[in-house]
Amino acid sequence: MITLKTPAQIAKMREAGRVVAAMLEACRAVARPGVTTAELDRVAAEVLRKAGATSSFLGYSVPPYPATICTSVNHEIVHGIPSPKRKLREGDIVGIDAGAIVDGWHADAAITLPIGRVSPEAERLLRITAEALRVGIARAQVGARIGDIGTAVEEFVRSQGFSVVQNYVGHGIGRAMHEDPQVPNYRPTRGQPNPPISEGLCIAIEPMVNIGGPETRTLADRWTVVTADQSLSAHFEHTLACTAGGPVVLTARGEGAAVAA
Ligand code: MF3
Ligand code: CO
Repeated sequence: MITLKTPAQIAKMREAGRVVAAMLEACRAVARPGVTTAELDRVAAEVLRKAGATSSFLGYSVPPYPATICTSVNHEIVHGIPSPKRKLREGDIVGIDAGAIVDGWHADAAITLPIGRVSPEAERLLRITAEALRVGIARAQVGARIGDIGTAVEEFVRSQGFSVVQNYVGHGIGRAMHEDPQVPNYRPTRGQPNPPISEGLCIAIEPMVNIGGPETRTLADRWTVVTADQSLSAHFEHTLACTAGGPVVLTARGEGAAVAA
């Protein structure tokens, strides 16, 4: 069931979105060679605490997700668990995924950061994945359909010679982190749901892009998702509201994002 949000509810989600943006900015500011992914988790948790917000991820699902954020290094696609043993090294790329709850409303976003100098190939992967997210957001127009988003994302990523993960998708978001509809990053096949985008629809678009094939594997920790072929993977995500005036990104960084820091 898809629930559309009122402008007042979207304003609440924007507050959660500001906190998420501040968490990601704080992680970006400290991410460098020698820093552990557990330290990034602490930095994000501190931003949440100061904002009086809570994590969308901590305790989520079964087995309960054990951290505030997800940190996914190199061939890890999503849901990597922060660890004091995982020191970031020059040349790594690290996906940082954060969700915040403010007054019962969720926002969810992710970035992938280069650690020090990275290979030209890694740099291009980051650029193309961030661009894929922008391509998807541009299609989130009232009157279009959810499938238009994935169709555009997939076409763009393939045109660049990379592949898009299909086993994980974006999602509706609001009072829960995961609501209907699913928001795939690929063209819907016949018979797959393809709901229209209505005013007040709030969704998280989150392309996951691999240099190699799209196949995934889940590690023994039951969370960390990696590329089956060990190729590098990147992930960018925003929460947005679909309005008559076009998509409004609720997790935008930059101006206003420091409010919760
Ligand atoms: N952005 C991810 C998602 O939308 C984050 C979920 S991590 C989890 O699914 F730990 F909460 F599952
Ligand atoms: Co998400």
